[in-house]
Amino acid sequence: MLKGKRVLLGVTGSIAAYKSAYLIRLLQQEGAEVKALITDAGKHFIGIDTLRALTGHEVYTDNFLTDGAWRDSHISLAEWADVYLLAPATANTIAGLACGMAGNLVTSTALAFSSHRIAVAPAMNTAMWCSPAVVDNVSLLRRRGVTIIDPGEGSLACGAQGTGRLAEPEDILAALTAILVTNKPLSGVRIMITAGPTREWLDDVRYISNPSTGKIGFSLTRAALAQGAEVRLVMGPVNELLDDIIAGAELISVESALDMQREVSAGIDTTDVLIMAAAVSDYRPVVRASGKIKKDKDVMTLNLVRNPDILKDIAGRAVNCVLIGFALESANHLENAQRKLADKRLDMIILNDPTSFGAETGSFTLLMKNRGPICIDQASKDNLALSIMEKIADILKERKRTDENN
Ligand code: C5P
Repeated sequence: MLKGKRVLLGVTGSIAAYKSAYLIRLLQQEGAEVKALITDAGKHFIGIDTLRALTGHEVYTDNFLTDGAWRDSHISLAEWADVYLLAPATANTIAGLACGMAGNLVTSTALAFSSHRIAVAPAMNTAMWCSPAVVDNVSLLRRRGVTIIDPGEGSLACGAQGTGRLAEPEDILAALTAILVTNKPLSGVRIMITAGPTREWLDDVRYISNPSTGKIGFSLTRAALAQGAEVRLVMGPVNELLDDIIAGAELISVESALDMQREVSAGIDTTDVLIMAAAVSDYRPVVRASGKIKKDKDVMTLNLVRNPDILKDIAGRAVNCVLIGFALESANHLENAQRKLADKRLDMIILNDPTSFGAETGSFTLLMKNRGPICIDQASKDNLALSIMEKIADILKERKRTDENN
């Protein structure tokens, strides 16, 4: 199943490190090539010679930073590997990953991988696994798209019973296979989705916003992940607890249109498809007053300034990116949406109306360049999202064909 795949194995300081030897064998039996890194603490639990003999490669340790013996660095190891597996991962290493620490080779190497290419198999005592710090760190990693291979229950090295045992090597292998072997239509495609409302503050206690709930963004995120895409979700303020809804996506929370523009701009060079489903405020107050504006006038005039059109502005820079927008229209629906498709230089625009705000279902029309409109009547947002993903796969295939013919 893993023929030709390259696994970088990070071993850290847990008694479960002895299981790494069997894990390497299992991965190799499936056809994978394995290289290992180990922390200083890990060396107390398994010998470097064992890892070297099993992998057939030099083992990377913190000494490589000073002895200059290896030409491979954490960057070239990340380029070599298809996936970075940390097994066993201690609470300390998990905290290092969550904070982006580069204090040793195992954690600094993680910084050179995109989150979707990292799998973490924790091993620790139950009380540690349940501690708020570890729970928060693990949840943060999941949110970024790291695969957490949950520990099992049973007897722990400290003599206690409970959750915290390193997952069985066979379960770790299954989780890695799910990451590495995908024949999904959007496998490896990097999709950035914006969703939810934006919030434009008037003063410290009031803002301008709209009733967007982010539901379409969640549906798009789930559909994209299910088709194998890597998802960066830039989300305006919504009421949902996001972790479980979009586990597997990289989540970036923003407030204002300017925040959203900054995050879209920061991610666009590593994006293949941008879907702007956010209900971005068209205007923001010229100034944000400090404190609370007093009600000392009968009529108050609010001075607003136009927000940048994030989608339109990025179109010039993102020439190779598939660009998708939404058009919420209350009149001249088709005509306005067609105009926006051309004006913002989009590949697709999805027309909807104000009744879809917060609703589970709605009626939508997909408009694409050089194609007739596709009407999707009274569909759930999940079904709409699946149709959009199908069209994205078609557009990408068509682009690939055109590139090959040129
Ligand atoms: O022009 P209109 O606001 O109707 O366009 C809607 C589309 O443009 C949506 O995809 C929305 O996310 C995006 N948009 C934007 N920046 C704005 C306003 C809307 O990117 N300031």
